[in-house]
Amino acid sequence: MLGPALLRLLLATSVLVLHPLQCVTASFANAVNLPGVTVTVERVVSVPNRGSYAEPGNLGFPQTIDVLPALCAVTVRITNTSDVPTKPASSYRVGLFLPAANNYNGRMLTVGSASFAGGINWPGMGEGPHYGFATVSTDNGHNSAGSDLSWATPARLYDWGYRALHGAVVVGKLLTAHYYSDTKVAYSYYSGCSTGGRQGLREMEYDARSFDGALVGAPAWDTSHLMPWISKVATWQLGSSGAGKLKAAQLSILAAEVLRQCDAQDGMADNIVSAPAGCAFNLSTITCGDASRCVTPAQAATAQRIWGDYVVGGRSVYEGFGLSSEDQWAVYFGDDSTLTGFDFDYERYWVYNRSSYAWTDYTDGAVADSERVNAGQATADGFANLAGFAAGAGVAGRPGKIVMYHGLADGLISPRTTQRFYNRTIAATGRSADAARSWFRFFEVPGMQHCWFSNRYNAPWDFAGSGQATQLRLLPTLGVGLPAVGEGWSVPGHLNDSRYDALAALVQWVEAGRAVDQIIATAFNADFSVNRTRPLCPFPQRAVYGSGNVNSAASWRCA
Ligand SMILES: *[C@@H]1O[C@H](CO)[C@@H](O)[C@H](O)[C@H]1NC(C)=O
Ligand SMILES: *[C@@H]1O[C@H](CO)[C@@H](O)[C@H](O)[C@H]1NC(C)=O
Ligand SMILES: *[C@@H]1O[C@H](CO)[C@@H](O)[C@H](O)[C@H]1NC(C)=O
Ligand SMILES: *[C@@H]1O[C@H](CO)[C@@H](O)[C@H](O)[C@H]1NC(C)=O
Ligand SMILES: *[C@@H]1O[C@H](CO)[C@@H](O)[C@H](O)[C@H]1NC(C)=O
Ligand SMILES: *[C@@H]1O[C@H](CO)[C@@H](O)[C@H](O)[C@H]1NC(C)=O
Repeated sequence: MLGPALLRLLLATSVLVLHPLQCVTASFANAVNLPGVTVTVERVVSVPNRGSYAEPGNLGFPQTIDVLPALCAVTVRITNTSDVPTKPASSYRVGLFLPAANNYNGRMLTVGSASFAGGINWPGMGEGPHYGFATVSTDNGHNSAGSDLSWATPARLYDWGYRALHGAVVVGKLLTAHYYSDTKVAYSYYSGCSTGGRQGLREMEYDARSFDGALVGAPAWDTSHLMPWISKVATWQLGSSGAGKLKAAQLSILAAEVLRQCDAQDGMADNIVSAPAGCAFNLSTITCGDASRCVTPAQAATAQRIWGDYVVGGRSVYEGFGLSSEDQWAVYFGDDSTLTGFDFDYERYWVYNRSSYAWTDYTDGAVADSERVNAGQATADGFANLAGFAAGAGVAGRPGKIVMYHGLADGLISPRTTQRFYNRTIAATGRSADAARSWFRFFEVPGMQHCWFSNRYNAPWDFAGSGQATQLRLLPTLGVGLPAVGEGWSVPGHLNDSRYDALAALVQWVEAGRAVDQIIATAFNADFSVNRTRPLCPFPQRAVYGSGNVNSAASWRCA
């Protein structure tokens, strides 16, 4: 086995000569021997340089991912009966992208999923091999679109909750090592946003040895409170009379007025609300009786509730959205009376399992029921467990590092929930905020929506957060009405550059001890020329303007 220092040297000088096995089924059969665990190889495909990959029938991630480097794409099914009879047996699929040996960087990257999707996240995995990572993800034990919660059975919930991701890491490391001449994975990383963020945190709480470093975006970590809160907001929207419903027109009016009032209050009029929590917002300015140009008093009351915390019996159970998130509110509670599936399917299928459950059945009692059921044990609230990760476990007993981030204009998950996670973890791991900075840093991203994209104007949001490069490649716009192509990984113009790329920065923190003091976020124009850059700062710092071009990161510092 190579020591980390030697391996680093070998990687740096490119003399590490690996002779991987052939990219055929036989290379992966019988490679794993774990009690209770069966690994069945389903599909092995050799992808040429600049080739593409897609999995037919994948409901969660049907997209074709293209311009991949040469790699071996492997799909296995894993069953694990070790939990029986306490819990039902596990069964899920795991996908691997194994780069050609001359491009393999000796490291493994595990990638998370999104919302409630089943299916292997091949598009999200497409970023990893460009860096040289052997890249791994799981279908979480089911095949479904992201807003579908009806697949829930106890076995699938546990798989979605934590079992599939754990097995993906354990088996992924073994298959990767086996493929590259039985060379142990030197470093293990994680990258995920939203549900992917939750999965990463949950896994680090479950097994401190899984990762050396994790990039965690907008984590949906508090499942058992997030979901009842979404339902509660939907009841406000649906209301008894419908008078309080915020339609698309009102969301737009609200967002524009928040920008107008709050932008300059943060010290810089730049079309970015950088400090939404500090904004004194006056809703009266846009409240009137005419819903065609204002919000009515009933609609204003709904907005106030959505910005506020969800309080049950005097206890605050979930944080409301921040100012500047309004553009995204329609994702959960759209303009018409059609429910999105996020709204009440959680109670219907996961908590009460009663197909007749209707939105009028919702009461605040669902919060306690949700806590008691804790479906799939998905909620990542084992804060104290992260002490093990921080102290040192990793692949070779190294102290772990977490870079966490959250867009302040997120209209799907409140960034304040992530602040709570950060604060609770610092408290539970028994360290001061200063000491926690040695292993855990949290970056708020002004103007960024859920995981990617800018809310109104071109706020810098691209820093190679999980899935961001994939969005640039797959979606027709940059989130500001501009066409996009991107390079499928990292940050265009700064590939693998730890000043601009949060994943590369994490690697430097873990392997070279260079702490992530700031990350430069970039906003692009349609032709991928740079629109503006701005540093993201570790909480509780924020970017403070000094002098020079306001659209250049160099004019700002973290303070
Ligand atoms: C990215 O940077 C890491 C070092 O931080 C290096 O090991 C890896 O080979 C680089 N990948 C590419 C494609 O440049
Ligand atoms: C809900 O009930 C159905 C029908 O009995 C069952 O198949 C399913 O496993 C149950 N789901 C959960 C989450 O218990
Ligand atoms: C199989 O399940 C057991 C019990 O939950 C667990 O300890 C083990 O890590 C699992 N194996 C894999 C490969 O996930
Ligand atoms: C809020 O706006 C209303 C309507 O424009 C105005 O009358 C009121 O003085 C404002 N309140 C504050 C505290 O500025
Ligand atoms: C987290 O702690 C900071 C102080 O360190 C405090 O300002 C902030 O309000 C806390 N946030 C939450 C959501 O608890
Ligand atoms: C940046 O983007 C905004 C919004 O699209 C545009 O108005 C502005 O001209 C751009 N600035 C530069 C320097 O490209």
